[in-house]
Amino acid sequence: MTMAKIIGGVATTHVPAIGKAIADGKENDPYWQPFFKGFDYVHDWLARTKPDVAVIFYNDHGLNFFLDKLPTFAVGAADEYRSEDEGWGIPVSRAAAGDPALSWHLINALVADEFDVTMCQNMLIDHAVTIPMALMWPTAAAAKASPAKPWPVKIVPVEINTVQHPLPSLKRCLKLGRSIGRAIDCYPQNLRVVVVATGGLSHQLDGARAGFINKEFDALCLDKIVAEPEALARYSIHDWVKESGSQGVEFLNWMAMRGALTGRVSELARNYHIPISNTAAATVVYDNQTDEARKAA
Ligand SMILES: [Fe+2]
Repeated sequence: MTMAKIIGGVATTHVPAIGKAIADGKENDPYWQPFFKGFDYVHDWLARTKPDVAVIFYNDHGLNFFLDKLPTFAVGAADEYRSEDEGWGIPVSRAAAGDPALSWHLINALVADEFDVTMCQNMLIDHAVTIPMALMWPTAAAAKASPAKPWPVKIVPVEINTVQHPLPSLKRCLKLGRSIGRAIDCYPQNLRVVVVATGGLSHQLDGARAGFINKEFDALCLDKIVAEPEALARYSIHDWVKESGSQGVEFLNWMAMRGALTGRVSELARNYHIPISNTAAATVVYDNQTDEARKAA
């Protein structure tokens, strides 16, 4: 029987200003070019690997969840995910099609693995999903006026609380990702799946350390996440905030993505650029070699 295949991972920053730069056509401006050029490789890789579905680990910023009701982990199980105006002055993105059958398969596997997730049959996606999608598939993003031409992938959004403490630990997010990776590996459909993480790297938007960026720590994270994610999983959230800033905890999404890469993982491309807005911007592509692929090679 043909099973779904995890082809690899893409991780990128999701700063709202990127959406405004796309809307204003500033991709080649000197300020933006070093960031956007990091996507040349991503576009080539996606054109070669042709994923059918993107499982996207991200954190909502108040569009779908707010502080009054905030799940630790939430998984989308909708036919379609719409966005809405978040107030950043960026155009509202086109809706993305869901894959509810895959969503329910993942939810069943997660709950069986003792992750008691919130199930969302109605879920709005914010800039943490729509900006990475626009960066990864710019032609589809630009085709907004033609609703007949959808995004080239269906999505399963997996939302992680990085906003209201207590946050889940890095270790817990790595395990969550592993549970999802195992579930994708045994999904009996011929699907090519890319796992996506959005957010980070180091940044702090408020308080006495507003503007804080830690280049050395970011480099350590990008090095360790490939072969030694457990080394990063040992950090407490408190220590992570100290090293990476109060919003640097968005790296929880990266940990979950890494967990979902169940094969032999290697870094195919990395672009690190500071700053975009107040944030250390990173775009990375990860290969996920499975036994099956190794045998075929
Ligand atoms: Fe964010």
